[in-house]
Amino acid sequence: MTEGHRIADILSAYRTEGRVLPQEEIVAMLREIQGVLGWIPQGVREKAAEAAGVKSTTVDAIIRLYPSLKPAPYRHQITVCQGRNCGPNGGNALRQEVENMLRPDRDGISADRQFLVKSVSCMKKCRSGPNLEIDGEVFAAVRPGDGERIIREIMKKEGMKQ
Ligand code: FES
Repeated sequence: MTEGHRIADILSAYRTEGRVLPQEEIVAMLREIQGVLGWIPQGVREKAAEAAGVKSTTVDAIIRLYPSLKPAPYRHQITVCQGRNCGPNGGNALRQEVENMLRPDRDGISADRQFLVKSVSCMKKCRSGPNLEIDGEVFAAVRPGDGERIIREIMKKEGMKQ
C-alpha cells in the first residue's frame, strides 16, 4: 500500500460526519500520520483538520502543544557560518563537528531526522564569530566542542536518543 493510501485510510478511520473529533483523538490521528510519513506536511494537516471537523489552525495549535509532533521533516535548524571571517577561524571545523555528530544527508537532514544542518557565508556578525545559529538563537565565539555540547543539551532536554 502506498503512503498516500495509508494516509487516506487513517483520515477515513477518524473522519467524523458533522461532529468535532475530541483533541486526544486528533492527536492519535496525527501520530498515526507521522508514523507513516515521519512528519505532518501542511497539505495533510489541512486534510486532517477537515476529517476532524476543525479548522486547520486548530490542528496547527495542537501540533505546537505536542513537541513530539513534527510540522516539518526536522525539529531544529542549525546554521553554521562558514564565511570569510568565521570559516577559517573555527566555522569550518564547527561544520565538520556538527556533521560528524548528526550525519546530515544531501538535503542537510540529520540521520535521526530531527535537525536541518545548513551553512551560510555571513551572518553579519563577523566580529563575534565564529557563529552558530540554532532555531534563530545565535551562539557567538563558538569554540571546538561547543557545537556538540549545545546540540547534546537540546537532545537531552527533549529526550532524544543520543
Ligand atoms: S563571516 Fe561569519 S558572520 Fe560574517
